[in-house]
Amino acid sequence: MLSIIHRKLGAPANVLERVDAPATGEPGPGQLRIRVAYVTVHPGDLQIIEGAPASGGPYAVSPEGRTPGFEGVGFITSIGPGIDAALGLHIGKAVAYFPVASGWSEYVLASSDAVVPVPDHVQLEIAAQALINTVTAELIIRAGHAAWPAGQRDAVTVIQTGAASAVGKIITALLTERGVQVIRLVRSAASARRLRENVDIGPVIATEEVGWEKSLAQAAAGVQLHVAVDGVGGPVLPVIADLLAPGGTIINYGSLGGATTDIRLLVPRGLTIQGVHIGQWMAQSGTQKTTDLDTAMRLAANRPDLFPVAAVYGPNHIKQAIEHVRQDGRDGAVLLTFQGENS
Ligand SMILES: NC(=O)c1ccc[n+]([C@@H]2O[C@H](COP(=O)([O-])OP(=O)(O)OC[C@H]3O[C@@H](n4cnc5c(N)ncnc54)[C@H](OP(=O)(O)O)[C@@H]3O)[C@@H](O)[C@H]2O)c1
Repeated sequence: MLSIIHRKLGAPANVLERVDAPATGEPGPGQLRIRVAYVTVHPGDLQIIEGAPASGGPYAVSPEGRTPGFEGVGFITSIGPGIDAALGLHIGKAVAYFPVASGWSEYVLASSDAVVPVPDHVQLEIAAQALINTVTAELIIRAGHAAWPAGQRDAVTVIQTGAASAVGKIITALLTERGVQVIRLVRSAASARRLRENVDIGPVIATEEVGWEKSLAQAAAGVQLHVAVDGVGGPVLPVIADLLAPGGTIINYGSLGGATTDIRLLVPRGLTIQGVHIGQWMAQSGTQKTTDLDTAMRLAANRPDLFPVAAVYGPNHIKQAIEHVRQDGRDGAVLLTFQGENS
């Protein structure tokens, strides 16, 4: 079967290769075999391949190779023993799945509790990118909620960085659904314009524009800010820290800027930086996980605008796919397909 592997850590464009890998075996108890339609190439996948500190790795890579990818969408081709028929997981059914191992392959094995049926009216390209980013957003929001002083949750405003990113837009959507005000920071003026046009729900400030610090201070004037949600880090963070209430919390989930952060401002004001990582989701209860996956599929169905597709590549064009993920101004997810002419 077609598969993408890397045999060592390094620059993804240099180390990734398309191979004909041994076929996936039959599904074991509670497992499904899925013919993969689309997988998303996440920035986090690339960090793992590079062995970047933010990846939570380094991951072990054997000489036979490691196949990246933890989520995707496809069609059930085989059903292992012990799966409840009431789940509606029949052969041919389209499902999204997370987590799986070795996702960038023509076939994957998934545990039945890691799959969500894709309703007929939801595009597969959208379902392929909905799970990881929504689950991450929910983890971040739960951490932010826990950090906000109890008894002061009537009017909540949160500063959000990386607000034009895929995860950032989902965080905004879920927060605003729940009545939370957001002050959004993005890097580029172009992204700020796009967000203002599409989602008119509060200030959007571009950090590449001169005077953004003043605009942020104005937007935050008179507002009690106990939590900021950050996917960028670097020089933006101390500016935000300065606006948080004493004892406030920065929930950090990413380092899009790739820069290190000066934390000297945090100490005298008693601020906390709390890391949130998708790996923590594995320890959540089964009920919570099912709720989060259902939320992801609800967004895929009702908010397709949150999941634009930048391009779809076949495994022969994995290097172009990687370059596209890294392109400035990219609007939408880069997908790989293992079906049809593209593959
Ligand atoms: N903790 C976790 O478990 C977890 C899970 C998923 C993702 N993440 C992390 O979350 C972050 C966002 O992921 P994503 O998939 O949502 O990303 P994405 O959609 O690929 O992000 C694209 C956005 O990143 C912004 N950006 C790019 N370079 C930047 C820079 N140097 N400084 C500031 N902004 C920059 C761009 O802003 P402009 O458009 O304004 O230029 C663009 O809108 C990544 O760091 C990712 O690794 C973490």
